[in-house]
Amino acid sequence: MYKLIRPLLFLLDAEISHDLVFGLARLLYLVPGTRVLVRLLLAKITPRLSVEVMGLQFANPIGLAAGLDKNARNVRILSDLGFGWLELGTVTPRPQAGNPRPRLFRLPTHHALINRMGFYNVGVERFLDSLNRQGPRALIGINIGRNKDTPDEHVIDDYLRAFAEVFTSADYIAINISSPNTPGLRDLQDRKKLDELLLRLKHQQVTLGRTRRVYTPMAIKVAPDLNDDQVAVITKLALDHKLDAIIATNTTLTRPGLEHVLRAREPGGLSGRPLKELSTSVIHKLYTHLQGKIPIIGVGGVETADDAWEKLVAGADLIQIYTALIYQGPSVVRKIVAGLARRVAASGCANLAETVAKARTEPHLTEVTSFRL
Ligand SMILES: Cc1cc2nc3c(=O)[nH]c(=O)nc-3n(C[C@H](O)[C@H](O)[C@H](O)COP(=O)(O)O)c2cc1C
Repeated sequence: MYKLIRPLLFLLDAEISHDLVFGLARLLYLVPGTRVLVRLLLAKITPRLSVEVMGLQFANPIGLAAGLDKNARNVRILSDLGFGWLELGTVTPRPQAGNPRPRLFRLPTHHALINRMGFYNVGVERFLDSLNRQGPRALIGINIGRNKDTPDEHVIDDYLRAFAEVFTSADYIAINISSPNTPGLRDLQDRKKLDELLLRLKHQQVTLGRTRRVYTPMAIKVAPDLNDDQVAVITKLALDHKLDAIIATNTTLTRPGLEHVLRAREPGGLSGRPLKELSTSVIHKLYTHLQGKIPIIGVGGVETADDAWEKLVAGADLIQIYTALIYQGPSVVRKIVAGLARRVAASGCANLAETVAKARTEPHLTEVTSFRL
């Protein structure tokens, strides 16, 4: 079905077709029975893929990556597509318009996107209003960021404020320090700044946990464009500050394999197929340092169950997708979930975690050789 409408959608500007698709889906959801039908078609029940990460039970390890539903408007619809969970946002304390349009570009031959959205969002208050109106939904991670016009000396206050606001509405909170389209944001990955940011956020997490009597896990989301020293610094700080997870990776400022593609010269972060290897190699480096002490959420260029498997074996505990959804439509979630379920069944193991653990220790079973270490 998506194959039929995709050529029409691709005639339109990428952001307009995104708004159109979700606008139509919200209208369709007003028709009684739609929700049940969508779930029947797309959600797959796979008990052996259920995984516990950050103390949360995920129905399957395939989640929606941040950026697709920045304002928590489509949570009901997205909850029915078979994802194990959704990450919403990035949301900032105050509303902001983002960069001028056009700011999202397709590279169809390469199954990639370039975006420079610049955190457009309605601000945390309206975000939460919208989320709370949606009723029963999947597990939710909320990804938070800074406002662009916040003076650098108050950036940490932005994170603390957003963190406090979403604390009881999120199943986990993702701290975005890696989007390439907010000037200065990635500098927060540097040792001194990251140390201070994590110190203050951890303090906030403990204090809020005591008063609200709930523990909300905290993850940081990192860039794929990190050198080995930066990876070492980040993992050390993550361990020192007892982070609950690391999400790897955001989009890249590099253009792997696209050096001669004219469209790829658009400024912004690249996602999709050309990002896959880079992100998997960062996951593997993180895992080498962390050795399972902190879980990793792997994201970047996952289009198939084999891609997801490759990242799991490289060190990820959970996987997220975004760009594949644009190129393949919602059925891609079911396809990846079904492919992983088949792999678990074929392994003779009881569940996914056991299958991955076996593959990591017995590499000849993994069939993973393609990513750079
Ligand atoms: C249009 C677009 C907007 C995005 N916005 C965000 C965002 O607001 N916050 C964030 O952490 N990541 C954002 N991302 C990055 C994705 O969450 C993901 O890390 C990246 O796209 C790599 O995954 P993929 O190759 O499966 O798309 C965005 C990606 C795209 C394509």
